[in-house]
Amino acid sequence: MVQKTKPSQEEKIMETSIGRRSFLRKGLAVGGAGTLGAGLLAGGLPAFAEASSGGLTKGDVAILRFLAAAEILETDLWRQYNELGGIQDSEVPGGSGNPVYTKALAVLDSDMAQYIHDNTEDEMTHFTFINAYLVSKGADPVNLDKFRTLPSSKATGAQHIGRLTNLMQLTVDTSWWTRLRSRTKNPDFGDTFPQAIPSLSTGKFPAIPRHDGDLSPNDHIQAIANTAGFHFGFIEQGGSSLYPTLAQGATNLEVLRVLLSIGPVETSHFQTWHDKAGNAPALTDPTNGLVFPNLNASPFGGEDFQTNLIMPEPTVFLSRKFPAVSIIRPTQIAESGGAVATVKAWTADGLFIGQSQEFLALINKLAVQADAARRGF
Ligand SMILES: [Fe+2]
Repeated sequence: MVQKTKPSQEEKIMETSIGRRSFLRKGLAVGGAGTLGAGLLAGGLPAFAEASSGGLTKGDVAILRFLAAAEILETDLWRQYNELGGIQDSEVPGGSGNPVYTKALAVLDSDMAQYIHDNTEDEMTHFTFINAYLVSKGADPVNLDKFRTLPSSKATGAQHIGRLTNLMQLTVDTSWWTRLRSRTKNPDFGDTFPQAIPSLSTGKFPAIPRHDGDLSPNDHIQAIANTAGFHFGFIEQGGSSLYPTLAQGATNLEVLRVLLSIGPVETSHFQTWHDKAGNAPALTDPTNGLVFPNLNASPFGGEDFQTNLIMPEPTVFLSRKFPAVSIIRPTQIAESGGAVATVKAWTADGLFIGQSQEFLALINKLAVQADAARRGF
């Protein structure tokens, strides 16, 4: 005869969870599909989630609205790059190209113009899709048109229209270069990382020619193209972390699917830009002293800096007791990752120089609301 022993703590937890699941199943059987909230049907788990729009929770809407804003801002900056250094066509119209800047970018890779075009098109489709999805769920889309007030480049090839973002005075944080290479550190543990291009992270430099005077001397326009090359990595690394971070707060499974399907595209951009930035030639800009060092030679070099080490190195994740694992990082909400951290990083980058307080307040509000989203609410 089998003796019934006292249940362990783990068994008690298991019973409670099974009890809750069977309660949910019973609810389904008794109530029938017709009486269930659309949130439960579409999202699965969140029986008690607060539905606000077409089955999405307030948190889902907040996540999507911040991402729509972020994608609109990305589109705005990528369009500026494409007008001058990409391919201007029916997929990504606007501008007529700047041959000198395009040639300097091609030093990083002969396909740079194509990659810039494709990255731009991707961002356009991201915000257009997310806004259309929000509308389909009865939620408000995001429109930042009233904030298109920043000046365009005066260089040959650029359109003369109001912009949302500034690319002509950037302070580019290049610690993303070392963040994914460390085998012992993780930004989610509070760790910090050295800059690949220290002088880019301290001054204010253009990533596009401001006017045709910026097209020479050669090392000046090459420094501008190099700055763009590292800025591309900075922007897309941010997107790579933003999506998996915010996905943890999503409730509706279809919203989760949207985030999990768009986020990795940001990572595919990032991987490309990480590779191309490594081809930026070492030089000193004679007009402002900006230095691009040889990252493969002392005092640089080694796994933290060598230019072909473009795939993430394994590192500590969740707890130091686990074995090292190759992961995207950061992914912790409201710490080093997330919407507020993204806005902070973009502000420090100089992207919003010249923007109004009203714009900054709106973007920050959207970010705080997105970070506050929690699964089930
Ligand atoms: Fe995007």
